[in-house]
Amino acid sequence: HSLWLIVPAAGQGKRMGADKPKQYLPLGEKPILAHTLSRLHRAFPTAHLVLCLDSDDRWFKPEWVPFPQWQRVAGGAERMDSVLNALHAIKAQDNDMVMVHDVARPCITSSDLLALYDAAQQHPSGALLAMPVADTMKRANAEQLSAVTEPRDRLWHALTPQAFRYALLRRALEYAVANHCVVTDEASAVEALGQAPKLVSGRRDNLKITHPDDLALATAIMASQVAQSSE
Ligand code: CTP
Ligand code: MG
Repeated sequence: HSLWLIVPAAGQGKRMGADKPKQYLPLGEKPILAHTLSRLHRAFPTAHLVLCLDSDDRWFKPEWVPFPQWQRVAGGAERMDSVLNALHAIKAQDNDMVMVHDVARPCITSSDLLALYDAAQQHPSGALLAMPVADTMKRANAEQLSAVTEPRDRLWHALTPQAFRYALLRRALEYAVANHCVVTDEASAVEALGQAPKLVSGRRDNLKITHPDDLALATAIMASQVAQSSE
């Protein structure tokens, strides 16, 4: 295989506070997880999917997986552990491309997915979708007083997907675990090795569904993307 898609979907959705993990909540006619997988499949129909699911997951249905080639792996304590489980489970070549995408981002478009894939092929340190910061950024002191205004021109929001060669990503996440680095995305683990992944400017509507009011927002985004044929 030349492309492995890792989808961490072993979270509990605590901030959503629903009666099941947020990836199983419906958006229109199907759950968030099914939307996300169908968008990935549209862009990369021949990729191999690796889905990280909690061992106690009672909601997952294989009928939501559109990929002919896929496997399920157990989730870990943190997102990073889920992704590392996937990397250890697959039989990938060092040079294969691995793309990691949060299940909670169903509004991802084919154009962003393809742009990221191209960038990751061109940059040995990999690439991530990101969005330039629009607001003025403040650094608070311990009393929550606005102590410093950070220059905004080089600040970005990190999104997913993020894509790297297999050997680099595996080395980066193993290094992060061994050194107790707190990494919340793959790029930060790669940065800890001294490498600098490429920031690819992505769409502003690549929302990570996190809180209850994000459901209505995601529904509106997906409807407008379909109306504009961006998906
Ligand atoms: N994730 C995972 N394994 C974990 C924790 C998170 O695979 N141990 C996944 C989630 O399913 C999600 C992505 O990582 O696709 C981003 O995490 P987040 O948005 O924080 O989701 P949850 O952890 O489910 O939500 P919360 O933090 O509110 O509990
Ligand atoms: Mg979480």
